[in-house]
Amino acid sequence: MAEVGYSKKVLEHFTNPRNVGTIENPDGYGKVGNPVCGDLMEIFIKVKDDKIEDIKFRTFGCGSAIATSSMVTELAKGKALDEAIKITRSDVADELDGLPPKKMHCSNLAADALHEAIKDYRRKRGEKADDDPQKSGD
Ligand code: FES
Repeated sequence: MAEVGYSKKVLEHFTNPRNVGTIENPDGYGKVGNPVCGDLMEIFIKVKDDKIEDIKFRTFGCGSAIATSSMVTELAKGKALDEAIKITRSDVADELDGLPPKKMHCSNLAADALHEAIKDYRRKRGEKADDDPQKSGD
């Protein structure tokens, strides 16, 4: 499998993804489309005491999108919102020991959807929600 360029961790999260599914009445919901391939990602969060108590994802993306979402949900679960919103696209790829260059755009989906879900939660509470560190894009 090594010749396809996927790390063991990517393959492991792809075959056994964590936190797949949806949350009824989520506190925050983020949905993003990937401009490169047109795939979709949804992230649902439950928040308690300003921490991500539960998180689930649903995607119509490829295997890399599934692996990165699984990793994002693991990284974000239990984290304070202020910390979780700082999880970057490259953090996710790094945690997975890298992604093939052609697949880097797939990792953007999960991180962006997480940020959207946090912003949605903050918007609903009437808080300022424009502090996404990756807003300027790449
Ligand atoms: Fe669309 Fe990876 S090819 S998310």
